[in-house]
Amino acid sequence: MPVFNIRKAWAFLGVALLATPFSWGQAPASRVALCGACHGAQGNSVIPDIPSLAGQPKVFLENQLVLIREGMRDIPQMKGQLNNVPDAELTALAQHYAALPVAKPTAARRQELYARGETLSKDMRCGICHLPNYVGREQMPRLAGQREDYLLHTMRSMKANQSVGRDPIMTASLYGISDADLQAIAHYLAQTAP
Ligand code: HEC
Ligand code: HEC
Repeated sequence: MPVFNIRKAWAFLGVALLATPFSWGQAPASRVALCGACHGAQGNSVIPDIPSLAGQPKVFLENQLVLIREGMRDIPQMKGQLNNVPDAELTALAQHYAALPVAKPTAARRQELYARGETLSKDMRCGICHLPNYVGREQMPRLAGQREDYLLHTMRSMKANQSVGRDPIMTASLYGISDADLQAIAHYLAQTAP
């Protein structure tokens, strides 16, 4: 039986830590693979009602990840997945997804609906916070190129004030808007890709 050698053990641990991607400030591949099962391998979701994360502002992602970990933004599908994940790793995950390119929309553009959504978004001044090209900044999410079904689903829930843990500013912004108008806005924003 080999004699336990504390110096060798430390050397081994040192190598193991250096070999772990996270020690270089990168998100661990194992966790990225887990997230990718729902949010897409490159951060562009192909699953209805699940948002893409690619190209979101880093601060927005970081904030949401902390809120989700703390159970303040309640997402049943993500329950427990961020338990005990340290802040530094959430930052690394946010950085990882913020740097990925946004995929082009795959659905066909419905010109009339698109034009209506464009006018509504302009009139309602959504670009004041989300920027005129809707790419977002800081804590304001990118809307351009997001999945249409997710945009509609999340706007309906924010409008109904049912989105626990989300900024009430959006409930106020969507106050009184019809569902048909929400559908036009969702179509326009989803089609406003890079
Ligand atoms: C089982 C599926 C599933 C897995 C796995 C999953 N998520 Fe999610 N995630 C969701 C759903 C569904 C939502 C949107 C919930 C809603 O409607 O608000 C979401 C929302 C988010 C949001 C908020 C995005 C936005 O635009 O509001 C972030 C950030 C996020 N997830 C990051 C992650 C990360 C990082 C991982 C890996 C640690 C992960 N998710 C794993 C299903 C999943
Ligand atoms: C005063 C600033 C402000 C204005 C104006 C505003 N938003 Fe937002 N919006 C935000 C912030 C901040 C968030 C992030 C909320 C959160 O998750 O806590 C957000 C989130 C969203 C989301 C959720 C995206 C996601 O990935 O989960 C959608 C969709 C959205 N806004 C659409 C709109 C539309 C459409 C308008 C115009 C009718 C609008 N917003 C006007 C600040 C604003």
